[in-house]
Amino acid sequence: MSDQLQGEIDLQEFRQMGYQLVDWIADYLGHPEQYPVLSRSQPGDIKAQLPPAAPEEAEPLAAIIADFEKIIVPGITHWNHPNFFAYFSITGSVPGILAEMLIAALNVNGMLWRTSPAATELEEVTLDWLRQLLGLPADLRGVIMDGASMSSMVAVAAAREAVAGLDVRRQGLAGRTDTPRLRAYISDQTHSSVEKGAIVLGIGQENVVKIPSDDQFRMIPAALETAVLHDLAAGYRPFFVCATIGTTSTTSIDPVPAIADLAEKYGLWLHVDGAYGGMAAIVPEMRHVLDGVARADSLVTNPHKWLFTPMDLSAFYTRHPDVLKRAFSLLPEYLRNTETDANAVIDYMDYGVQLGRRFRSLKLWFVLRAYGREGLVARLREHMRLAQQLAEWIDAAPDFERLAPTPFSTVCFRAHPRGLDDPDQLNKLNEQLMTAVNATGEIFLSHTKLNGAYTLRLAIGNIRTEEAHVKRAWELLQEMV
Ligand SMILES: Cc1ncc(COP(=O)(O)O)c(C=O)c1O
Repeated sequence: MSDQLQGEIDLQEFRQMGYQLVDWIADYLGHPEQYPVLSRSQPGDIKAQLPPAAPEEAEPLAAIIADFEKIIVPGITHWNHPNFFAYFSITGSVPGILAEMLIAALNVNGMLWRTSPAATELEEVTLDWLRQLLGLPADLRGVIMDGASMSSMVAVAAAREAVAGLDVRRQGLAGRTDTPRLRAYISDQTHSSVEKGAIVLGIGQENVVKIPSDDQFRMIPAALETAVLHDLAAGYRPFFVCATIGTTSTTSIDPVPAIADLAEKYGLWLHVDGAYGGMAAIVPEMRHVLDGVARADSLVTNPHKWLFTPMDLSAFYTRHPDVLKRAFSLLPEYLRNTETDANAVIDYMDYGVQLGRRFRSLKLWFVLRAYGREGLVARLREHMRLAQQLAEWIDAAPDFERLAPTPFSTVCFRAHPRGLDDPDQLNKLNEQLMTAVNATGEIFLSHTKLNGAYTLRLAIGNIRTEEAHVKRAWELLQEMV
Protein backbone atom coordinates (compact mmCIF):
# COMPACT_ATOMS: atom_id res chain seq x y z
CA MET A 1 0.00 0.00 0.00
CA SER A 2 1.40 3.40 -0.85
CA ASP A 3 1.51 6.14 1.77
CA GLN A 4 -1.31 7.95 -0.02
CA LEU A 5 -3.70 5.15 0.88
CA GLN A 6 -3.23 5.55 4.60
CA GLY A 7 -3.63 8.15 7.27
CA GLU A 8 -4.90 11.69 7.18
CA ILE A 9 -4.54 14.26 4.44
CA ASP A 10 -1.42 16.38 4.73
CA LEU A 11 -1.91 19.12 7.32
CA GLN A 12 -0.10 21.66 5.17
CA GLU A 13 -2.81 21.16 2.56
CA PHE A 14 -5.45 21.48 5.30
CA ARG A 15 -3.91 24.75 6.45
CA GLN A 16 -3.84 26.15 2.92
CA MET A 17 -7.40 25.08 2.09
CA GLY A 18 -8.63 26.21 5.50
CA TYR A 19 -7.30 29.75 4.98
CA GLN A 20 -8.83 29.77 1.51
CA LEU A 21 -12.20 28.64 2.84
CA VAL A 22 -12.22 31.22 5.63
CA ASP A 23 -11.61 33.85 2.94
CA TRP A 24 -14.45 32.41 0.88
CA ILE A 25 -16.81 32.47 3.88
CA ALA A 26 -15.85 36.05 4.76
CA ASP A 27 -16.47 37.20 1.16
CA TYR A 28 -19.74 35.30 1.12
CA LEU A 29 -20.98 36.75 4.39
CA GLY A 30 -19.89 40.20 3.26
CA HIS A 31 -21.92 40.00 0.05
CA PRO A 32 -24.69 37.40 0.16
CA GLU A 33 -26.67 39.74 -2.13
CA GLN A 34 -24.42 38.70 -5.01
CA TYR A 35 -26.64 35.60 -5.22
CA PRO A 36 -30.38 35.31 -5.86
CA VAL A 37 -31.86 34.70 -2.41
CA LEU A 38 -34.04 31.86 -3.66
CA SER A 39 -32.07 29.28 -5.63
CA ARG A 40 -32.86 29.26 -9.33
CA SER A 41 -32.22 25.51 -9.57
CA GLN A 42 -34.79 23.34 -11.23
CA PRO A 43 -35.50 19.85 -9.88
CA GLY A 44 -32.66 17.51 -10.84
CA ASP A 45 -30.24 20.28 -11.91
CA ILE A 46 -27.74 19.51 -9.17
CA LYS A 47 -27.95 15.73 -9.43
CA ALA A 48 -27.38 15.95 -13.19
CA GLN A 49 -23.97 17.51 -12.58
CA LEU A 50 -22.80 14.86 -10.13
CA PRO A 51 -21.29 11.51 -11.05
CA PRO A 52 -23.49 8.46 -10.33
CA ALA A 53 -20.94 6.88 -7.96
CA ALA A 54 -18.26 7.96 -5.51
CA PRO A 55 -14.75 8.34 -6.94
CA GLU A 56 -12.42 5.36 -6.92
CA GLU A 57 -9.32 7.48 -6.53
CA ALA A 58 -8.56 10.34 -4.21
CA GLU A 59 -9.34 13.79 -5.50
CA PRO A 60 -7.55 16.96 -4.42
CA LEU A 61 -9.41 19.16 -1.93
CA ALA A 62 -8.96 22.07 -4.35
CA ALA A 63 -11.01 20.23 -6.98
CA ILE A 64 -13.79 19.50 -4.48
CA ILE A 65 -13.91 23.13 -3.39
CA ALA A 66 -14.03 24.27 -7.03
CA ASP A 67 -17.02 21.99 -7.61
CA PHE A 68 -18.63 23.29 -4.44
CA GLU A 69 -18.63 26.76 -5.98
CA LYS A 70 -19.62 25.61 -9.45
CA ILE A 71 -22.27 22.97 -8.68
CA ILE A 72 -23.44 23.33 -5.10
CA VAL A 73 -23.64 27.09 -4.54
CA PRO A 74 -26.15 27.65 -7.41
CA GLY A 75 -28.40 25.14 -5.63
CA ILE A 76 -28.29 27.07 -2.37
CA THR A 77 -31.18 29.20 -1.13
CA HIS A 78 -29.37 31.87 0.82
CA TRP A 79 -30.63 31.99 4.38
CA ASN A 80 -27.76 34.44 5.01
CA HIS A 81 -29.22 36.91 2.52
CA PRO A 82 -30.59 39.98 4.32
CA ASN A 83 -33.70 39.80 2.11
CA PHE A 84 -34.54 36.28 3.22
CA PHE A 85 -37.94 36.90 4.79
CA ALA A 86 -39.57 33.47 4.34
CA TYR A 87 -40.68 30.92 6.98
CA PHE A 88 -38.87 31.98 10.13
CA SER A 89 -35.84 33.79 8.81
CA ILE A 90 -32.77 32.48 10.63
CA THR A 91 -29.04 33.03 10.41
CA GLY A 92 -25.88 31.63 11.80
CA SER A 93 -23.22 34.10 12.79
CA VAL A 94 -19.46 34.55 12.85
CA PRO A 95 -19.03 33.19 16.41
CA GLY A 96 -21.33 30.29 15.54
CA ILE A 97 -19.33 29.45 12.42
CA LEU A 98 -16.02 29.56 14.28
CA ALA A 99 -17.44 27.26 16.96
CA GLU A 100 -18.71 24.86 14.28
CA MET A 101 -15.15 24.57 12.97
CA LEU A 102 -13.98 23.55 16.42
CA ILE A 103 -16.93 21.21 16.94
CA ALA A 104 -16.02 19.40 13.72
CA ALA A 105 -12.33 19.43 14.59
CA LEU A 106 -12.82 17.98 18.07
CA ASN A 107 -15.54 15.63 16.83
CA VAL A 108 -16.39 14.47 20.32
CA ASN A 109 -19.38 12.35 21.07
CA GLY A 110 -21.06 13.72 24.17
CA MET A 111 -23.11 10.64 25.00
CA LEU A 112 -21.62 10.20 28.48
CA TRP A 113 -20.02 12.71 30.81
CA ARG A 114 -16.70 10.93 30.50
CA THR A 115 -16.76 10.81 26.70
CA SER A 116 -16.05 14.54 27.00
CA PRO A 117 -16.67 16.18 30.35
CA ALA A 118 -16.49 19.64 28.76
CA ALA A 119 -19.30 18.83 26.32
CA THR A 120 -21.63 17.80 29.13
CA GLU A 121 -20.73 20.55 31.56
CA LEU A 122 -20.81 23.30 28.92
CA GLU A 123 -24.28 22.11 27.91
CA GLU A 124 -25.44 22.45 31.52
CA VAL A 125 -23.88 25.89 31.85
CA THR A 126 -24.96 27.42 28.52
CA LEU A 127 -28.54 26.22 28.90
CA ASP A 128 -28.60 27.63 32.39
CA TRP A 129 -27.27 30.96 31.07
CA LEU A 130 -30.00 30.96 28.44
CA ARG A 131 -32.61 30.11 31.08
CA GLN A 132 -31.52 33.14 33.08
CA LEU A 133 -31.55 35.37 30.00
CA LEU A 134 -35.15 34.29 29.43
CA GLY A 135 -36.07 35.06 33.05
CA LEU A 136 -37.14 31.48 33.78
CA PRO A 137 -37.01 29.79 37.20
CA ALA A 138 -33.98 27.87 38.43
CA ASP A 139 -35.78 24.53 38.67
CA LEU A 140 -35.79 24.14 34.88
CA ARG A 141 -33.17 21.73 33.54
CA GLY A 142 -32.05 21.96 29.93
CA VAL A 143 -31.12 19.42 27.29
CA ILE A 144 -29.99 20.27 23.76
CA MET A 145 -31.95 18.61 20.98
CA ASP A 146 -31.49 18.87 17.23
CA GLY A 147 -34.72 20.79 16.66
CA ALA A 148 -38.03 21.82 18.16
CA SER A 149 -39.71 18.84 16.51
CA MET A 150 -37.55 16.48 18.55
CA SER A 151 -37.96 18.63 21.67
CA SER A 152 -41.75 18.47 21.40
CA MET A 153 -41.72 14.75 20.70
CA VAL A 154 -39.60 14.25 23.79
CA ALA A 155 -42.13 16.32 25.74
CA VAL A 156 -44.96 14.05 24.60
CA ALA A 157 -42.88 11.01 25.58
CA ALA A 158 -42.22 12.45 29.05
CA ALA A 159 -45.91 13.30 29.44
CA ARG A 160 -46.83 9.74 28.50
CA GLU A 161 -44.28 8.37 30.95
CA ALA A 162 -45.79 10.56 33.66
CA VAL A 163 -49.27 9.01 33.29
CA ALA A 164 -49.77 7.11 36.53
CA GLY A 165 -50.32 3.37 36.18
CA LEU A 166 -49.76 3.30 32.42
CA ASP A 167 -46.39 1.55 32.60
CA VAL A 168 -45.97 2.36 28.91
CA ARG A 169 -42.23 1.86 28.93
CA ARG A 170 -42.61 -1.83 29.72
CA GLN A 171 -45.99 -2.74 28.26
CA GLY A 172 -46.29 -0.33 25.33
CA LEU A 173 -49.73 0.75 24.17
CA ALA A 174 -50.74 -1.67 21.44
CA GLY A 175 -53.20 -4.45 22.14
CA ARG A 176 -54.06 -3.32 25.65
CA THR A 177 -57.58 -3.33 27.00
CA ASP A 178 -56.67 -2.19 30.50
CA THR A 179 -55.93 1.42 29.61
CA PRO A 180 -58.08 4.22 28.19
CA ARG A 181 -57.14 6.16 25.08
CA LEU A 182 -54.63 8.90 25.79
CA ARG A 183 -55.70 12.34 24.55
CA ALA A 184 -53.40 15.22 23.69
CA TYR A 185 -54.57 18.81 23.04
CA ILE A 186 -53.05 21.32 20.69
CA SER A 187 -54.62 24.29 18.92
CA ASP A 188 -55.56 24.62 15.28
CA GLN A 189 -52.43 26.82 14.98
CA THR A 190 -49.93 24.46 16.68
CA HIS A 191 -46.92 23.46 14.61
CA SER A 192 -47.35 20.08 12.92
CA SER A 193 -44.30 18.73 14.78
CA VAL A 194 -46.32 18.16 17.96
CA GLU A 195 -48.86 16.03 16.12
CA LYS A 196 -46.01 14.23 14.38
CA GLY A 197 -44.44 13.44 17.75
CA ALA A 198 -47.76 12.02 18.94
CA ILE A 199 -47.96 9.86 15.81
CA VAL A 200 -44.44 8.51 16.36
CA LEU A 201 -45.22 7.70 20.00
CA GLY A 202 -48.31 5.69 19.19
CA ILE A 203 -50.79 8.20 20.57
CA GLY A 204 -52.53 8.24 17.21
CA GLN A 205 -53.65 11.23 15.16
CA GLU A 206 -57.28 10.68 16.19
CA ASN A 207 -56.26 11.35 19.77
CA VAL A 208 -54.63 14.68 19.06
CA VAL A 209 -57.46 17.12 19.59
CA LYS A 210 -57.21 20.48 17.82
CA ILE A 211 -58.71 23.22 19.97
CA PRO A 212 -60.09 26.22 18.06
CA SER A 213 -58.37 29.57 18.31
CA ASP A 214 -59.87 33.06 18.62
CA ASP A 215 -59.84 35.92 16.11
CA GLN A 216 -56.19 36.56 17.01
CA PHE A 217 -55.23 32.92 16.49
CA ARG A 218 -54.83 32.12 20.22
CA MET A 219 -56.08 28.88 21.74
CA ILE A 220 -59.46 29.36 23.45
CA PRO A 221 -59.10 28.00 27.01
CA ALA A 222 -62.87 27.49 27.43
CA ALA A 223 -62.84 25.28 24.33
CA LEU A 224 -59.92 23.33 25.79
CA GLU A 225 -61.89 22.69 28.97
CA THR A 226 -64.96 21.62 26.99
CA ALA A 227 -62.85 19.15 25.01
CA VAL A 228 -61.22 17.72 28.14
CA LEU A 229 -64.59 17.29 29.87
CA HIS A 230 -66.02 15.63 26.77
CA ASP A 231 -63.10 13.20 26.68
CA LEU A 232 -63.33 12.41 30.38
CA ALA A 233 -67.03 11.67 29.94
CA ALA A 234 -66.12 9.34 27.07
CA GLY A 235 -63.69 7.46 29.32
CA TYR A 236 -60.52 8.79 27.71
CA ARG A 237 -57.38 9.87 29.57
CA PRO A 238 -56.35 13.51 28.83
CA PHE A 239 -52.58 13.71 29.43
CA PHE A 240 -50.90 16.48 27.42
CA VAL A 241 -51.50 20.01 26.20
CA CYS A 242 -49.25 22.21 24.11
CA ALA A 243 -49.42 26.01 24.23
CA THR A 244 -47.44 28.02 21.70
CA ILE A 245 -45.63 31.31 22.09
CA GLY A 246 -45.21 32.50 18.53
CA THR A 247 -47.28 30.18 16.34
CA THR A 248 -45.84 29.38 12.96
CA SER A 249 -48.47 31.06 10.78
CA THR A 250 -49.07 34.32 12.63
CA THR A 251 -46.76 34.27 15.73
CA SER A 252 -49.80 34.44 18.00
CA ILE A 253 -49.33 33.83 21.72
CA ASP A 254 -51.55 31.30 23.45
CA PRO A 255 -52.85 32.33 26.91
CA VAL A 256 -50.40 30.20 28.87
CA PRO A 257 -51.61 31.19 32.39
CA ALA A 258 -55.21 30.12 31.63
CA ILE A 259 -54.00 26.94 29.95
CA ALA A 260 -51.74 26.24 32.95
CA ASP A 261 -54.80 26.54 35.23
CA LEU A 262 -56.57 23.86 33.20
CA ALA A 263 -53.47 21.68 32.96
CA GLU A 264 -53.22 21.71 36.75
CA LYS A 265 -56.94 21.13 37.22
CA TYR A 266 -57.06 18.10 34.92
CA GLY A 267 -53.56 16.70 35.44
CA LEU A 268 -52.22 17.43 31.95
CA TRP A 269 -48.53 17.83 31.15
CA LEU A 270 -48.18 21.40 29.86
CA HIS A 271 -45.60 21.80 27.12
CA VAL A 272 -44.86 25.27 25.75
CA ASP A 273 -43.59 25.58 22.20
CA GLY A 274 -41.62 28.82 22.07
CA ALA A 275 -39.39 27.62 19.23
CA TYR A 276 -39.35 31.09 17.68
CA GLY A 277 -41.26 33.49 19.93
CA GLY A 278 -39.89 32.29 23.25
CA MET A 279 -36.52 33.83 22.48
CA ALA A 280 -38.06 37.32 22.48
CA ALA A 281 -38.20 37.09 26.28
CA ILE A 282 -34.51 37.98 26.48
CA VAL A 283 -35.65 41.51 25.55
CA PRO A 284 -36.78 43.03 28.88
CA GLU A 285 -39.95 44.66 27.53
CA MET A 286 -40.92 41.31 25.95
CA ARG A 287 -40.41 39.23 29.08
CA HIS A 288 -44.20 39.01 29.47
CA VAL A 289 -44.47 36.61 26.53
CA LEU A 290 -43.30 33.87 28.89
CA ASP A 291 -45.93 34.67 31.54
CA GLY A 292 -47.15 31.41 33.00
CA VAL A 293 -44.28 29.35 31.60
CA ALA A 294 -42.83 28.86 35.09
CA ARG A 295 -45.83 26.58 35.65
CA ALA A 296 -45.22 24.54 32.48
CA ASP A 297 -43.78 21.05 32.67
CA SER A 298 -41.60 21.63 29.63
CA LEU A 299 -40.58 24.32 27.17
CA VAL A 300 -38.73 24.46 23.90
CA THR A 301 -37.02 27.47 22.40
CA ASN A 302 -34.60 27.40 19.49
CA PRO A 303 -31.31 29.29 19.48
CA HIS A 304 -31.02 28.16 15.83
CA LYS A 305 -34.16 30.12 14.99
CA TRP A 306 -33.74 33.54 16.54
CA LEU A 307 -30.45 33.59 18.41
CA PHE A 308 -27.88 33.55 15.59
CA THR A 309 -26.77 30.00 16.38
CA PRO A 310 -26.08 27.85 13.31
CA MET A 311 -28.39 24.91 12.61
CA ASP A 312 -29.06 22.91 14.56
CA LEU A 313 -29.61 23.65 18.26
CA SER A 314 -32.88 23.47 20.12
CA ALA A 315 -33.08 24.12 23.87
CA PHE A 316 -35.49 21.83 25.68
CA TYR A 317 -36.26 22.57 29.33
CA THR A 318 -38.22 20.61 31.88
CA ARG A 319 -39.07 20.81 35.56
CA HIS A 320 -39.07 17.01 35.65
CA PRO A 321 -35.68 15.73 34.48
CA ASP A 322 -36.38 12.58 36.50
CA VAL A 323 -39.44 11.79 34.34
CA LEU A 324 -37.45 12.44 31.18
CA LYS A 325 -34.76 10.07 32.39
CA ARG A 326 -37.36 7.44 33.25
CA ALA A 327 -38.72 7.73 29.70
CA PHE A 328 -35.38 7.46 27.92
CA SER A 329 -32.67 5.90 30.05
CA LEU A 330 -31.64 2.42 29.00
CA LEU A 331 -28.26 1.23 30.16
CA PRO A 332 -26.55 -1.66 28.44
CA GLU A 333 -23.34 -2.85 30.10
CA TYR A 334 -21.11 -1.32 27.42
CA LEU A 335 -22.38 2.17 28.26
CA ARG A 336 -22.20 1.79 32.02
CA ASN A 337 -20.25 4.57 33.64
CA THR A 338 -17.79 2.93 36.02
CA GLU A 339 -15.28 5.65 36.72
CA THR A 340 -17.54 8.26 38.18
CA ASP A 341 -20.18 8.55 40.82
CA ALA A 342 -23.28 8.12 38.65
CA ASN A 343 -25.15 10.77 40.61
CA ALA A 344 -22.41 13.37 40.35
CA VAL A 345 -22.62 13.75 36.58
CA ILE A 346 -25.17 13.91 33.79
CA ASP A 347 -24.99 11.43 30.95
CA TYR A 348 -27.04 13.25 28.33
CA MET A 349 -27.79 10.04 26.42
CA ASP A 350 -30.30 9.35 29.25
CA TYR A 351 -32.45 12.35 28.34
CA GLY A 352 -33.46 11.77 24.76
CA VAL A 353 -33.37 9.47 21.74
CA GLN A 354 -29.86 10.21 20.55
CA LEU A 355 -26.91 8.27 21.87
CA GLY A 356 -24.14 9.97 19.92
CA ARG A 357 -24.40 13.70 20.44
CA ARG A 358 -22.55 16.57 18.80
CA PHE A 359 -20.83 19.19 20.96
CA ARG A 360 -23.56 21.70 20.14
CA SER A 361 -23.25 23.74 23.32
CA LEU A 362 -19.89 25.09 22.13
CA LYS A 363 -21.58 27.21 19.47
CA LEU A 364 -24.16 28.56 21.90
CA TRP A 365 -21.33 29.46 24.27
CA PHE A 366 -19.51 31.34 21.48
CA VAL A 367 -22.70 33.18 20.48
CA LEU A 368 -23.74 34.17 24.00
CA ARG A 369 -20.24 35.46 24.77
CA ALA A 370 -19.49 37.15 21.45
CA TYR A 371 -22.67 39.26 21.46
CA GLY A 372 -23.37 39.43 25.19
CA ARG A 373 -26.86 39.92 26.56
CA GLU A 374 -26.79 43.55 25.45
CA GLY A 375 -25.92 42.70 21.86
CA LEU A 376 -28.53 39.96 21.59
CA VAL A 377 -31.23 42.18 23.08
CA ALA A 378 -30.35 45.03 20.70
CA ARG A 379 -30.50 42.77 17.63
CA LEU A 380 -33.82 41.14 18.54
CA ARG A 381 -35.29 44.50 19.50
CA GLU A 382 -34.26 45.92 16.12
CA HIS A 383 -35.92 43.02 14.28
CA MET A 384 -39.15 43.73 16.14
CA ARG A 385 -38.85 47.46 15.41
CA LEU A 386 -38.43 46.73 11.70
CA ALA A 387 -41.52 44.50 11.74
CA GLN A 388 -43.52 47.24 13.48
CA GLN A 389 -42.29 49.69 10.87
CA LEU A 390 -43.47 47.46 8.04
CA ALA A 391 -46.79 46.89 9.83
CA GLU A 392 -47.27 50.67 9.96
CA TRP A 393 -46.49 51.06 6.26
CA ILE A 394 -48.99 48.31 5.44
CA ASP A 395 -51.66 49.78 7.71
CA ALA A 396 -51.25 53.14 6.00
CA ALA A 397 -51.40 51.73 2.44
CA PRO A 398 -54.86 51.72 0.89
CA ASP A 399 -54.22 48.62 -1.23
CA PHE A 400 -52.70 46.37 1.42
CA GLU A 401 -53.94 45.05 4.74
CA ARG A 402 -52.57 43.18 7.71
CA LEU A 403 -54.26 39.89 8.50
CA ALA A 404 -52.93 39.27 12.02
CA PRO A 405 -51.37 41.18 14.90
CA THR A 406 -47.57 41.54 14.86
CA PRO A 407 -46.32 40.68 18.36
CA PHE A 408 -42.78 39.74 17.26
CA SER A 409 -40.86 40.20 14.02
CA THR A 410 -43.17 38.53 11.50
CA VAL A 411 -45.81 40.42 9.55
CA CYS A 412 -48.87 38.71 7.99
CA PHE A 413 -50.57 40.72 5.28
CA ARG A 414 -51.96 40.71 1.77
CA ALA A 415 -52.57 43.01 -1.12
CA HIS A 416 -56.21 44.10 -1.19
CA PRO A 417 -56.70 46.58 -4.01
CA ARG A 418 -59.69 48.85 -3.60
CA GLY A 419 -62.80 47.44 -5.25
CA LEU A 420 -61.49 43.87 -5.44
CA ASP A 421 -63.32 41.86 -2.79
CA ASP A 422 -63.86 38.44 -4.31
CA PRO A 423 -62.02 36.00 -1.99
CA ASP A 424 -60.84 33.69 -4.79
CA GLN A 425 -59.55 36.56 -6.87
CA LEU A 426 -57.76 38.03 -3.87
CA ASN A 427 -56.15 34.67 -3.16
CA LYS A 428 -55.01 34.35 -6.75
CA LEU A 429 -53.67 37.90 -6.82
CA ASN A 430 -51.61 37.37 -3.68
CA GLU A 431 -50.27 34.03 -4.79
CA GLN A 432 -49.19 35.64 -8.07
CA LEU A 433 -47.67 38.56 -6.20
CA MET A 434 -45.58 36.26 -4.03
CA THR A 435 -44.44 34.20 -7.00
CA ALA A 436 -43.50 37.37 -8.88
CA VAL A 437 -41.49 38.98 -6.08
CA ASN A 438 -39.72 35.71 -5.32
CA ALA A 439 -38.84 35.30 -9.00
CA THR A 440 -36.89 38.57 -8.94
CA GLY A 441 -34.27 36.84 -6.80
CA GLU A 442 -34.12 40.00 -4.71
CA ILE A 443 -36.37 38.93 -1.84
CA PHE A 444 -37.91 35.70 -0.60
CA LEU A 445 -41.26 35.57 1.19
CA SER A 446 -43.46 32.64 2.12
CA HIS A 447 -47.16 32.32 2.78
CA THR A 448 -49.86 30.77 4.92
CA LYS A 449 -53.65 30.65 4.81
CA LEU A 450 -55.66 32.45 7.48
CA ASN A 451 -59.41 31.83 7.53
CA GLY A 452 -59.15 30.87 3.88
CA ALA A 453 -57.22 34.00 2.88
CA TYR A 454 -53.90 33.58 1.08
CA THR A 455 -51.55 35.45 3.42
CA LEU A 456 -48.05 36.70 2.77
CA ARG A 457 -45.59 36.37 5.65
CA LEU A 458 -42.54 38.58 5.96
CA ALA A 459 -40.34 37.31 8.79
CA ILE A 460 -37.34 39.28 10.01
CA GLY A 461 -34.67 37.29 11.82
CA ASN A 462 -31.50 37.71 9.83
CA ILE A 463 -28.54 39.28 11.57
CA ARG A 464 -27.77 41.35 8.44
CA THR A 465 -31.29 42.67 7.79
CA GLU A 466 -31.51 46.45 8.07
CA GLU A 467 -34.27 48.98 7.49
CA ALA A 468 -33.17 49.50 3.87
CA HIS A 469 -33.81 45.81 3.13
CA VAL A 470 -37.32 45.87 4.58
CA LYS A 471 -38.00 49.12 2.72
CA ARG A 472 -36.87 47.57 -0.55
CA ALA A 473 -39.11 44.55 0.01
CA TRP A 474 -42.05 46.85 0.64
CA GLU A 475 -41.29 48.89 -2.51
CA LEU A 476 -41.07 45.73 -4.58
CA LEU A 477 -44.40 44.44 -3.28
CA GLN A 478 -46.07 47.75 -4.07
CA GLU A 479 -44.51 47.88 -7.56
CA MET A 480 -45.47 44.35 -8.48
CA VAL A 481 -49.03 44.15 -7.21
C1 LIG B 1 -43.66 27.11 16.54
C2 LIG B 1 -42.76 26.08 15.91
N1 LIG B 1 -42.52 24.93 16.55
C3 LIG B 1 -41.73 23.98 16.03
C4 LIG B 1 -41.10 24.14 14.82
C5 LIG B 1 -40.21 23.07 14.27
O1 LIG B 1 -38.90 23.47 14.44
P1 LIG B 1 -37.63 22.57 14.07
O2 LIG B 1 -37.37 22.88 12.63
O3 LIG B 1 -36.54 23.08 14.96
O4 LIG B 1 -37.97 21.14 14.31
C6 LIG B 1 -41.32 25.33 14.11
C7 LIG B 1 -40.66 25.56 12.82
O5 LIG B 1 -40.73 26.59 12.23
C8 LIG B 1 -42.16 26.31 14.66
O6 LIG B 1 -42.43 27.44 14.02
